[in-house]
Amino acid sequence: MGIFRTKSVEDAIATTDEPEHRLKKTLGAWDLTVFGVGVIIGTGIFVLTGEAAGTRAGPAVTLSFVVAGVVCALAALCYAEFASTVPVAGSAYTFSYASLGEVVAWIIGWDLILELALGAATVAVGWSSYAADLLSQTLGLQVPEWLYSTSPSPTQPNLIAAAVILVLTAVLCVGTKASARVNAVVVAVKLTVVGIVIVAGLFFVKVSNWSPFVPPSGSRGAASTPPDPSLWQDLGVPLGTFGVGGVLTAAALVFFAFIGFDIVATAAEETKNPQRDVPRGIFGSLAICTVLYVLVSLVVTGMVKYDRISVDAPLANAFRAVGADVVATLISVGSVVGLLTVMMVLMLGQNRVLFAMARDRLIPSWFSKVDGRTGVPLRITAVTGVVVAVVAAVTPISDLAEMVNIGTLFAFVLVSIGVVVLRRTRPDLPRAFRMPWVPVLPIVSAVLALVLMGFLPGLSWIRLGIWMLLGLAVYLAYGYRKSRLARRG
Ligand code: ALA
Repeated sequence: MGIFRTKSVEDAIATTDEPEHRLKKTLGAWDLTVFGVGVIIGTGIFVLTGEAAGTRAGPAVTLSFVVAGVVCALAALCYAEFASTVPVAGSAYTFSYASLGEVVAWIIGWDLILELALGAATVAVGWSSYAADLLSQTLGLQVPEWLYSTSPSPTQPNLIAAAVILVLTAVLCVGTKASARVNAVVVAVKLTVVGIVIVAGLFFVKVSNWSPFVPPSGSRGAASTPPDPSLWQDLGVPLGTFGVGGVLTAAALVFFAFIGFDIVATAAEETKNPQRDVPRGIFGSLAICTVLYVLVSLVVTGMVKYDRISVDAPLANAFRAVGADVVATLISVGSVVGLLTVMMVLMLGQNRVLFAMARDRLIPSWFSKVDGRTGVPLRITAVTGVVVAVVAAVTPISDLAEMVNIGTLFAFVLVSIGVVVLRRTRPDLPRAFRMPWVPVLPIVSAVLALVLMGFLPGLSWIRLGIWMLLGLAVYLAYGYRKSRLARRG
């Protein structure tokens, strides 16, 4: 059937050689690892740790980070195999075009908008509050509250969030290599701050705060309103907050902290030796971040009892609580600077996916034009930047992190299945990186991602369904008739 037409892998690689659509190959394994760390460490560890420990898991949030890390590591194996086989811009989108067919590729591309564009908008709004907070702490400058509100409206837009997105868009227009340089500096700042949290925090740890390490189910948390029930709870599975269920519910939330390693794969086409460097970049950044998250969450829950932890700014406030205000300010500076790269790389990933979709004519090919001088797809970069800025300015973001998580986990499910399918349909293709124990491990990866999705609220499942149906309608109305493959007959 037409909607399941696949683009051959050779075809996918050949498209990248058309001069009009060629991206510059400038990146190595080191650049990719830095990119990965740049986008991975962000709102997740700086903000969500507090909510996850305080309202869902207690000190056992450390275990939640491990659970989320394991789900990501399994998906990372799938991404690495795919990226080393199909080194073309577009990540999960491109992989599935070559294995599962056009309609699934479209669905993934559409789904990735949730992870990337929505992710960037979410982080931008979080960034605006940090920035305002820092301005008042250091310069005594009081910014009007509506300018950085986390529940903005069209009449009172979050202009700080929109502004930061537009500035970063301008940086991206200058070129990927320049952006990689900016990224490296910011990553250094961020790692320093995380290092300070771990080392300085150790001095303030009280072992008694870790007890009980896994607070029993039904314990009272740090916030007055408990989180929305998960899909599993809606279905009658008695796994709520705290206890074992709490560890898993928290894992579904802090999963956000790992989002980004998959974006390393979106830069495969700009990598000098993608077969070798993409798997290195993915695993390198994922491993570094997992270790840091486990240490940070141990330290923070050791400094403050979980039922008194700050759910808005847990790291900075843990240090304020023990009187180390200078460290608290340093952490705020680190998050203001550090979140910049998160937004930038998320948008870079979004541009690459849309670029690949435009090149395949699933969206108008006008978007895929690459600027001859900078090697950047300028049109798509500008349009994405403006759209993300508008979304960040007017959308209340309270439950957007959950949408980002469910969208990303859904992509993991499809990519895991894709690995098995491509091994069956194209066993002959050279694979520089082969995932072990296929098909068992990819199936485990898909199942675990689905289980974790179940720990997100039922409402986010409904929203995901609506977004996907909308995407399907757009595909049938446009891409189905206009795609390169359709034209070829
Ligand atoms: N992983 C990124 C963050 O924590 C998206 O902000």
